Amino acid sequence: MTDRKLYAEALKARENSYCPYSNFATGAALLAKSGKVYRGCNVENAAYGPTNCAERTAFFKAVSEGHRDFEAIAICGAPENEEPTVICPPCGVCRQVMQEFCRPDFRVILYGSEGRTKVYTLNQIMPLRFDLMD
Ligand code: THU
Repeated sequence: MTDRKLYAEALKARENSYCPYSNFATGAALLAKSGKVYRGCNVENAAYGPTNCAERTAFFKAVSEGHRDFEAIAICGAPENEEPTVICPPCGVCRQVMQEFCRPDFRVILYGSEGRTKVYTLNQIMPLRFDLMD
């Protein structure tokens, strides 16, 4: 699975975004070590607080189906009805969920111009991470 293909999966996931409150649609595609891809989108709520980000939707789908080993996640986001043309980095809560299940070299694949992607490791975007298991 190439980074570009995983990013394309995130774009597909974004098509199911439910975001009537923010009108900001996000998508994520989480690649398990098994090769299986879990898609997720943001799912908002009238009470705001219960809103789930695309990344956590993908993680919770995967973990609830027995997967705990992951290689990478691709993430995209933009105002609804617009194509993503800027980087959409994960929020702090989603980074904390990533650190629960992923090694420091877990790869986070984000938008890049001209069909490219920008790639960061979890360690780069989540240094000094809290983990009772370390
Ligand atoms: N959102 C995500 O899906 N992922 C992030 O990492 C940041 C924010 C969603 C939550 C909400 O539905 C919308 O984007 C605007 O914040």
